[in-house]
Amino acid sequence: MVCLGNICRSPMAEGVLKMKVELANMNHAVEVDSAGTISMHQGEHPDSRAISTAKKHGVDISKLVARQFTVNDFDRFDKIIVMDASNYTDVIKTARNSDDIKKVKMLLNYSNPDSNNPLPDPYFGGIEGFERVYQMIDKACDALIISLEKEILQS
Ligand code: 4NP
Repeated sequence: MVCLGNICRSPMAEGVLKMKVELANMNHAVEVDSAGTISMHQGEHPDSRAISTAKKHGVDISKLVARQFTVNDFDRFDKIIVMDASNYTDVIKTARNSDDIKKVKMLLNYSNPDSNNPLPDPYFGGIEGFERVYQMIDKACDALIISLEKEILQS
């Protein structure tokens, strides 16, 4: 899961997807991590508004630590899931080949296929924006779990 700072959207998405992977008994098959395209917040825990919003839904993201996306992530992961078009452009800039590019997906395309809808950045708004974003992440991750289950069955 990749956003700009790795302190708001992508850590919430990491926490939600990890919870759903556990509930679906897919821990053995799926590894989840997150990163940001910028290094500014590297080493920080998630934004307190992201922590409290996730906590309200029973998801503990308080111990996650921000890091910057690197080209090695294309080798470590099968999917690089970005939150908006600018994350998409930034990640694609570091791609080495068409296989890397193929791994990059927009999160909300799981819940709304081919829409390329952005997950809005809640950083500069109030806490209600975090709840709205959480609900969008939750819905997209439900669809992502179904897609992963299908992939695993076919492999
Ligand atoms: P995120 O939110 O990309 O969802 O983690 C942001 C975090 C930090 C900044 C912008 C967005 N920032 O400008 O520092």
